[in-house]
Amino acid sequence: MNASIESKDLIAESRHLWQSYFQGEQPDKPPMTITHGDGLYIYDAAGNEYLDTFASLLTTLCGHGRAEVIDAVNEQMRKLAYFPGGQDVLIEPAVRLAAKLAEIAPGRLSVSFLVNDGSEANEAAIKLARSFHWAKGEKNRYKVIFRRGSYHGATLGALSATGLAGTREPYEPLLPGFSHAMPANCYHCELGLDPETCALACFKNLASVLEWEGPKSVAAVIMDPIPGSNTGFPLPPDGYLQGVRDLCDRHGVLLIFDEIQTGFGRTGRMFACENWGVTPDIMTVAKGFSGGYLPIGAAIATEQIAEAIRKAGTGFRHIHTFAGHAAACAAALAHIRIIQNENLVQRAAELGDYFRKRLEELYRYPLVGNVRGLGTLWAVELVANRGTREPLNPPGKVGSFVADFCRKAGMILRNNGDVLVLAPALVMTFAQADRMLNLLHDAIGAAMSHCEQENDVFQWNHELSVT
Ligand SMILES: Cc1ncc(COP(=O)(O)O)c(C=O)c1O
Repeated sequence: MNASIESKDLIAESRHLWQSYFQGEQPDKPPMTITHGDGLYIYDAAGNEYLDTFASLLTTLCGHGRAEVIDAVNEQMRKLAYFPGGQDVLIEPAVRLAAKLAEIAPGRLSVSFLVNDGSEANEAAIKLARSFHWAKGEKNRYKVIFRRGSYHGATLGALSATGLAGTREPYEPLLPGFSHAMPANCYHCELGLDPETCALACFKNLASVLEWEGPKSVAAVIMDPIPGSNTGFPLPPDGYLQGVRDLCDRHGVLLIFDEIQTGFGRTGRMFACENWGVTPDIMTVAKGFSGGYLPIGAAIATEQIAEAIRKAGTGFRHIHTFAGHAAACAAALAHIRIIQNENLVQRAAELGDYFRKRLEELYRYPLVGNVRGLGTLWAVELVANRGTREPLNPPGKVGSFVADFCRKAGMILRNNGDVLVLAPALVMTFAQADRMLNLLHDAIGAAMSHCEQENDVFQWNHELSVT
């Protein structure tokens, strides 16, 4: 009773809060008021419990309420919450965290610039790439090549590298010198090609954009090795990432991997790029870095990049007051310790094998067009016709039906239109995985029945779909 009165007050007062990704139109249902979390569960003001299959926007890899992280932050805050670090001032947790990143990052990535979130990490990465070329006397190398479909952040530099038309549109013109290439998204190949026979046409497109821009004017190629939840985690085709790596090396262009959704064990390797044995020159991380306990991100560069900038004496003229915040660094260190001590990278790989098996069973429903993913990142794409991949019409209605069904049954499921995306915490038990997967089966089954009843709204060709 009290809880719901408080919740009403909160809704009234919420008109003073400009919410993230404010849409303009009023949502058709009242917002949930989330009061607390425990492990993989979150609770609303009315006391309802929800299994969160998206780990609080891909952040809480070890779940909510982990005493190890909370105690580490508490202890650090009692000692020192914040003091600005700099060339002449060392803040211990920041130094220790950078050393930990150097230990776990692949290849020669070993020097971290700490920031507060993912957008800032990509912003720093782009400026680091330009600084590197500047330091080496190649001042004309300023261009950045990115891919359509990928999100890299909200700030103007990261947004200029973002390939989502609707997100960019109101802020145009964006920064000059950013050019887009085709994504490597086999299920939605822009050219309609078959991955078996396409001979990596998406890679060739990226190479031709680089060629057209003039390789000597290009500072960096930025990409997410597995594009994010907005496109439903399409895995790169074999040879693609290595091809991009070789192309960049051939032309002296830096390769930036955005591992903001995919880092820290998510894919069954500490970083997603390790699945394909390809290492970038700069890697950006955020989201699951501190397990969602405090905001933090990083751009991790090779020693060669850091050294070139140091030697040239040009420096990296980039500062955020709270970069390397002592308490946030303590949270990230404690969180990485849990990932390592509890072998959560291996666990993500095991969960991945199980998810694959159980999610592929969903093909029994003609609505399911494609199941894809790795480790703890999965997408189930619903279509009108599996054979032709024809999208549902109207778009998003069936996806929302499935998500609403799950919500009513006590599970938070994210749908991007008709793409259902799963990114649960790495600490998910197999019993919790079963509950999640069983409910998903029920929800899709219910959507099938609903579609059959409303055949005038949702059309699909059963005979073709069942193939
Ligand atoms: C792949 C990727 N890059 C960058 C960002 C931006 O991170 P942040 O929202 O922490 O600024 C996001 C956020 O969703 C992301 O998913």
